[in-house]
Amino acid sequence: MTRVVVVGSFNVDHVWRCDTLPAPGATLAGEYTTGPGGKGFNQAMAARRAGAGTVFVCSLGSDGGGQLARALATADDIDLRDEASDDPTGTAGIFVGADGRNSIVIGPGANATLSVAHVEAQASTIREARVLLAQLESPIDVVITALQLARESGVPSVLNTAPANAETTSALLGMADVLTPNESEFASLVARHTAMAIPADAVATAGDDALHLLCRTLHPNGSIVITLGAMGSFVSHADDVMRGDDIAHYRVAAETANVIDTTGAGDAFNGALCASMVIRPDARFAEHLRFASYYAARSTESEGAAAAMPVLPVG
Ligand code: RIB
Ligand code: NA
Repeated sequence: MTRVVVVGSFNVDHVWRCDTLPAPGATLAGEYTTGPGGKGFNQAMAARRAGAGTVFVCSLGSDGGGQLARALATADDIDLRDEASDDPTGTAGIFVGADGRNSIVIGPGANATLSVAHVEAQASTIREARVLLAQLESPIDVVITALQLARESGVPSVLNTAPANAETTSALLGMADVLTPNESEFASLVARHTAMAIPADAVATAGDDALHLLCRTLHPNGSIVITLGAMGSFVSHADDVMRGDDIAHYRVAAETANVIDTTGAGDAFNGALCASMVIRPDARFAEHLRFASYYAARSTESEGAAAAMPVLPVG
């Protein structure tokens, strides 16, 4: 079975839809819903529903949130490898404005106790994976261990460098084959790990040569995909690692969508990208990106994070 292994977070999302996002000191009424989320779980759900066999490695509390994660993994045939935590299952408070944009506060809970030992116990599964996918809602040493296990076995890895305020090191970035920051994550990585700088709001409109130079400096031996929301994405490869593409940098246009809720759109993109890499191993990277863009656009057309991942026929 073609497999994506995702190492990451599960959260119970508490979501309030409001006309505008609350300003400091404001009290607003919003329409409340709750559902499954966490960047790791959202990405695992996207990979699975995009048609790839998927393993999800995470940490869960012994509470309703943990039970929810297990039930959902079973329902969608995700191979769950959870570590039991004494802490509560992760949570997120999410405000979604009328324009579909959001603000999020997370309570890491059990996600913060995911251990190196638990990931090492999945070593044979990671070695047999076709792609490893991780994010930064898990402890950094856990993410490094997962990336290291993948690299030792020649398994390609994708590191979604989200959220923007997560701890990062050059060693961490260097361990991943593909980095997938959004604009603000890219700006903070450039500021932290290079002698250069770019404001987050200048990323989407920056010249391609300038972006490529920043990417090559930030991740000399790997690829970077900068996701730009409605502006699509920008891709930069190292000259000797083109991943099937014939040009070192290019843009991919966004798919149009009737946006209802962008929560988890980046996760949809990452999960679908990895699913495409395992389902169509001989396709050019650009084709994987077009599929990921299509999948992410569809995910914004319904409410919620993991629950909004569209089911596609197995490819
Ligand atoms: O990327 C969206 C996710 O970020 C939400 O589901 C929330 O749980 C936070 O992890
Ligand atoms: Na959504």
